[in-house]
Amino acid sequence: MSDILTHTDAGVMTITFNRLDKKNSITSSMYAAMADAVAQAAADPAVRVVVFQGHESIFSAGNDIGDFLNQPPTTQESPVFRFLRGIATFEKPLLAAVAGPAVGIGTTMLFHCDLVYAGDNAAFSMPFVNLGLCPEAASSLLAPRMFGYHRAAEALLMGEPFFAEAAQEVGLVNRVVPPTEVNGYAQAQARKLAAKPLSSLIETKRLMKGDTQAVLQKMAEEGASFGRMLQEPAAKEAFGAFMEKRKPDFSKL
Ligand code: COA
Repeated sequence: MSDILTHTDAGVMTITFNRLDKKNSITSSMYAAMADAVAQAAADPAVRVVVFQGHESIFSAGNDIGDFLNQPPTTQESPVFRFLRGIATFEKPLLAAVAGPAVGIGTTMLFHCDLVYAGDNAAFSMPFVNLGLCPEAASSLLAPRMFGYHRAAEALLMGEPFFAEAAQEVGLVNRVVPPTEVNGYAQAQARKLAAKPLSSLIETKRLMKGDTQAVLQKMAEEGASFGRMLQEPAAKEAFGAFMEKRKPDFSKL
């Protein structure tokens, strides 16, 4: 079965991470499948709302580290950037149902969602610094904007997980529910939205979001740094340590 499942029903396209054995970590081909699904959802009038979901035990462990090292995203046409631009410019409502860990892009993609529902086991983290990298998905712009600078600095510089209640407090999450209910709850909300006039949903979102140029620009800027840093010693040490299941040693870096 595919690692990304898409299913459309009653105006709602659901995109599901389906790679539980690898904690729903995301490979380049999964990004390509998600970018294609988002483009299709944008173009298809039968799709009115999109929902991202994972499993009740994990949303996503972020980039697949091995795949990332083999196929680093070097150009703006890389599937990951295509996916990120797709969600950043998506005009219809985007929802996410998050249970368990949401690491890296598992958290940063949520800045581009309109409504986020979380299981009470959700653990959000943006451990880019701990991986010798820098933020992506315009999170260096959107986290300070949403959380306030100091709380964003804590999340992005420390890279430690923060949990459902804290995520709701900083405005990343709309509502916390039991993990077994989060996908169903998001679906019910999505169906309510899908029954509303699409033109009003699109116009309301456009008015709230304003100009997306700054977001796209920050994404490109971060992407250039991220691509460069992936080749540098700190990232090599961090990823090597993950593969060898040991603690990284940054003492000389
Ligand atoms: N890339 C590739 N494989 C990953 C992965 C990732 N990001 N995250 C988990 N996996 C794999 C593990 O290597 C392991 O594979 P194996 O069974 O072949 O050894 C399997 O998924 C299970 O992972 P494990 O770490 O044993 O699960 P856990 O429940 O103890 O912890 C996480 C779950 C998500 C907390 C932990 O896997 C983790 O921290 N992953 C890395 C997250 C990360 O740094 N992402 C990169 C962001 S850019």
